[in-house]
Amino acid sequence: MEQTELTKPESLDELIKTLHKIFESDSVNVEEVQNIMESYTSNPQEWMQYAKFDQYRYTRNLVDEGNGKFNLMILCWGEGHGSSIHDHADAHCFMKLLQGQLKETLFEWPDRKSQGDMVQKSQRVLQENTVAYINDTIGLHRVENGSHTECAASLHLYSPPFQSCQTFDQRTGHKNSVKMTFWSKYGERTPFATTVSQENN
Ligand code: SIN
Repeated sequence: MEQTELTKPESLDELIKTLHKIFESDSVNVEEVQNIMESYTSNPQEWMQYAKFDQYRYTRNLVDEGNGKFNLMILCWGEGHGSSIHDHADAHCFMKLLQGQLKETLFEWPDRKSQGDMVQKSQRVLQENTVAYINDTIGLHRVENGSHTECAASLHLYSPPFQSCQTFDQRTGHKNSVKMTFWSKYGERTPFATTVSQENN
């Protein structure tokens, strides 16, 4: 697959510009996106304006709409916060740790006939500046900040952007469709009426 010569982004703004360039192409080169996101060294001064935490659950904060090709957002995880087990609506999901650590647990898609606990495939702890990747062919995952003393922040790129996904009950494999919402957009808190149903956590 054709790859543009890309240099290490020295700031979040530079990373965003480079991502725009990469996504001009119609196909997504997963390795290229993963490498460029990994090569950005997290600098809290650059992303603090988007990092809005809530006391009770993790928040999704939109940073850039990627010319309609991707959504770039910062997820803020307070102590002990976690997501449900969810899919990625046929999109690519890149997740870079900006601060702290996050535990990612991978699950198999539940079998139509299976009734009991969902099958866990693997588990890993993601470290600062590393980039994880998942799509629906790899499986489903749950992301958690297991720390009870430290918060965490992660930079997520979803392509194509999506507004709803499916969440799964670990005990039964039963699924639900949920709407994904933003706690803030471009550093501004989203008006309350549009944020009432953030249900992936
Ligand atoms: C994730 O997919 O890793 C986090 C869930 C979300 O985007 O809300």
